[in-house]
Amino acid sequence: MPDAGLLLAWYDRHRRSLPWRGPPGANRRPDPYRVWLSEVMLQQTTVATVGPRYSRFLARFPDVAALAAADWPAVAEEWAGLGYYARARNLHAGARSLAAQGFPDDVAGLRAIPGIGAYTAAAIAAIAFDAPVVPLDGNVERVVARLARVEAPLPAARKALDALAQGFMVQPAARARPGDFAQALFDLGATLCTPRNPACTLCPWLGGCAAQAAGVQAALPRKAPK
Ligand code: ADE
Repeated sequence: MPDAGLLLAWYDRHRRSLPWRGPPGANRRPDPYRVWLSEVMLQQTTVATVGPRYSRFLARFPDVAALAAADWPAVAEEWAGLGYYARARNLHAGARSLAAQGFPDDVAGLRAIPGIGAYTAAAIAAIAFDAPVVPLDGNVERVVARLARVEAPLPAARKALDALAQGFMVQPAARARPGDFAQALFDLGATLCTPRNPACTLCPWLGGCAAQAAGVQAALPRKAPK
């Protein structure tokens, strides 16, 4: 896999300013509750929509204790229009369980919280606690499938893509900044390594991308026919 340091250097120059990230340089070890909330909102809602709704939700429920103390109708009201209400139910149930025990700081502990799945646990562990793990979302799947030119289709290829993504964490540059590395992958997938017409000439990993070398980047990742 290519050099993690190249992606981090790119991120330091091009990092998107997003409400859940805080100012540049001050973004290390952000509040796990805020990371959790942003990641849950971002699961089925675009970055542009999440921005203002995230800030509004936080103003009303500033921490785990406030969310745990709220009744469900108040939470549902604040979620109005975002859809996929199961997300809000899980957030609420999770807050009640966390209020009693505090935030676990590793993937296994986070996975044990009701409503926190594999992706969310990895994202919180990496971004809030700098645990050496790469959260695999659709952006990261696409980036990795292209770098390694994985021709096998999703969803069957997911395990292989996850193993490749976790492989970055053997590199000291990635291990030094797992939260930034995860968010750099998200930004790369959202701004350059896009599903269609990827902007390869601007990519910090241009020289290390097997799909680009073969000219097949726009066709990856493949998806199994439904
Ligand atoms: N998509 C999912 N999580 C994200 C994050 N933390 N920043 C940007 N996009 C994301």
